[in-house]
This record gives sequence, C-alpha cells and structure tokens, in this order.
Amino acid sequence: MPKFYQFPEGFLWGVATSSYQIEGAWNEDGKGPSIWDVFSHTQGKIADGSTGDVACDHYHRWREDVALMKELGIKAYRFSVSWPRVLPQGRGPVNSKGLDFYDRLVDELLKNGIEPFLTLYHWDLPQALQDFGGWVNRDIAKWFADYVAVVARRLGDRVRWWATHNEPWVVAWIGHGWGEHAPGLRNPRCALQVAHHLLLSHGLAVEVLRDATGGAARIGIVLNLTSVHPASDTAEDHAAAHRADGFSNRWFLDPLFWGSYPKDLWEGFGPMVPEVHPGDMACISRRLDFLGVNYYTRAVVAHDAQGGPLQVKSVRPEKSAYTEMGWEIYPQGLYELLIRLHRDYKPATIIITENGAAFADVVSADGRVHDQPRIDYLRDHLVQAHRAIREGVPLEGYFVWSLMDNFEWAHGYTKRFGLVYVDFSTQRRIPKDSALWYRDVIAANGLTV
Ligand code: FCB
Repeated sequence: MPKFYQFPEGFLWGVATSSYQIEGAWNEDGKGPSIWDVFSHTQGKIADGSTGDVACDHYHRWREDVALMKELGIKAYRFSVSWPRVLPQGRGPVNSKGLDFYDRLVDELLKNGIEPFLTLYHWDLPQALQDFGGWVNRDIAKWFADYVAVVARRLGDRVRWWATHNEPWVVAWIGHGWGEHAPGLRNPRCALQVAHHLLLSHGLAVEVLRDATGGAARIGIVLNLTSVHPASDTAEDHAAAHRADGFSNRWFLDPLFWGSYPKDLWEGFGPMVPEVHPGDMACISRRLDFLGVNYYTRAVVAHDAQGGPLQVKSVRPEKSAYTEMGWEIYPQGLYELLIRLHRDYKPATIIITENGAAFADVVSADGRVHDQPRIDYLRDHLVQAHRAIREGVPLEGYFVWSLMDNFEWAHGYTKRFGLVYVDFSTQRRIPKDSALWYRDVIAANGLTV
C-alpha cells in the first residue's frame, strides 16, 4: 500500500547553489579574482580543463533562473555571495555593482515568494587575501567579519536565513591538506590551523550578524557531516570509526556546540594541533539558530596501521549502489546522522542545506531528461528525513543540491547534480523529471511512496 509522508506545515523546501559554481562573469563589473579563478586557470587542476568563467551565466540570467524556481514552486533558495564581487581586494573599498547584484536577486526572490537563504562563504576567497596567506593568516577572521558586516548592512533588512560558512572541513582538508581544491596547499598542519581560523571567523560573524539584523535573523553554519560505520565488528574497526567520526564530524561540532576540541583527536594530532588563543573557543561556540547539514553518503572505515595519524582507511561496500561521484547511496545514514546530532548536540533547528546526487543525465529523443535514479535518491532520503522528524528532530527545511547542473569544482562540468539540466554550449535550461517530481512534492508538502 502506498503511504503518504506528510511534512510539517511551513517546511522549507529549497534548492541550493553557490556563486562560483553558477555565476560566471568572473571579471565583470569590478569583481576581483577569487582563489577559484586562479586555481581553475592553472593547468591540470580541473578534470576537464574547464573554468567557472562562464559557468551557468547566472550573473546575467538570474531573472529567468528565479522564474524557473517559481514555476517549480520552490519555497527557499540557498545561494552564496561572492566575497571578491563585493570587495574586490577582500577588504577596503566596496564594489557597489557587486552588492547591487545580490540586492536585486534578493528582491526578485521575495517578489516571487521565495525565501532567500544566504551563505557568506562558499569557497571563493578574494585572491588579494590569499596573497596575505588567506585562511592561514589569523587576521582573516577580522577580514571576514568586516565583509559580513558590509553584506549584512545591505541585505539584513530582507534576508532572514544566514549561513556563515559552507563545509569548513572541505576548505581545510581538500583545499589546504590535500591540495585538490583552491588554494591547492598540501600541508595537514596548515589544514588544522585553517579549520580553526574558519571557526573563529564564524564566531565573529555571528556577532556581526546579530548586531546588524537586530536579532531578527536566523544564523547558522553549514557542515558536511556523515554517519560513520565500522567495516567489521572488531573492536579495532569500531575504534577506527570513532576516530574517523572525530575527524569528519566532532572536530567541528564540539567547538561549535561545546566550545572545545575533541580530546582524543587533539592528543592524536600531537604537534599538528592549531594555535588557539584565549577567548577563541567562547567566540566559536556562540549560540546558533540552526545547524545546516550537507549529507551525501556515509563513511565505512577500517583500522589501518598505515593509514596516517588516524590509522584509518575507507572501505567500499561491494553490494551497494553508487552515484557518478563514486559515493555510496545510503539514505539511512541521513536518519542516523539527524538522530545523533539531536541527541548529542541538540541544535535549536536543523536544516538539510544540501542533499542530492550526480548521475550521467542525457537529453532523450523526446527532449526530456528522464533521471529516475535521482528521483529515487531524493525520495529515499526524504523518507529518512521524515522518519527523523517523527522521532522529534527539529528539522525545518531541506535543500536539493542543486537547482541546476553547474561547475563541480575539480570535476569541472563532468558531474551533473541539477534538478535542471544545463546545456553549457547554449545555456539552455531543461527541467529534468526530478524537477517536476520535486515540484509535486512541494505542492503536496510531502510524498507518496
Ligand atoms: C558539496 C559542496 C557543493 C557541491 C556538492 C556536490 O561539498 O558544498 O558546492 O559541490 O558538494
């Protein structure tokens, strides 16, 4: 018997994007270069040799993109502001044309009944600040807070939802530990210091946002979190899973909610631990109105004496299904994660700020994109989200990554995550079957399975 899963009234059904991945116009209207402009222009960094110079050309097509969202009945739109578009040098003079762009976008969203959900940092740091060390330099916490003040003063009267950072773990480790993302550093000690500065800048920004918005705003941070499973039932693998959980989840959650780094990992990292000044942890652990959770897949790990300081290796479960990213499809992990966050950290509100999947979509002879695997993926995750709500998790919203196919970082345009297909040679948008399915889910405020 099919069953209807009804979501709470007012549930925030959204889609997400980020500035560098969709905007293009990388050097227009006074925008300064970001570290992603520099990185993508460096040979060998992006799988298909592409850049975000044009991307989805959203900087010019924003009006039609909002219209598309409106047609799909989208209730909330998570986007990010490009720091170097607003402050070409990262600090100092404001580029009013850059700020105007977001001002118009916000007005257009509101006019169409779509709630703006703004991320302040989704990885496109001004290159001018990278030249001063970027996130490695402690001064950046202050630079970030000043930038946040500029944006908040302009948009704080209309934007209610504010996320400081997107996935600081990725910025720290993939950008500074392993070098696969901008700025391309390969230094684990640096990565931990960067993580600390990201958290510190978050804390300062929370205060700036509260002041600038008179307390009306809902302020949070977006973390990439996962449910970690041991590869076997041995005590060794369980201990490895605990360490991996510390590395991926607790290293960020503990400081934000409890004002301290996890002791086990702090000891495990030994001389690599970051420099922390008095007062930092109190600043980092300022009250949050919501926790944003990006969930794509679970982690399965085993003990491995050769596996770096954590002595952990990832294991790939054989019988599972995988997306084009090579990520295991494991919807139950979302449920486990939500329950665990609620139990251990008790965020006031949780928002799923990203969930979605890349598949090898094609435009069929009938001109449509029949992406049933994506519908299956989203449906199964929503059922798990619903289960968590029923068990008391204060989940108030869900954002699909992404509104449309876009520049998937080091993968360039080779991975399609959109509900809407983008033909990058013509910029034509084609809503996939999943977009139409999502429209029906939103209209019904729930889904039948
Ligand atoms: C997340 C990022 C987002 C997108 C998805 C697939 O890590 O926040 O920009 O690339 O992954």
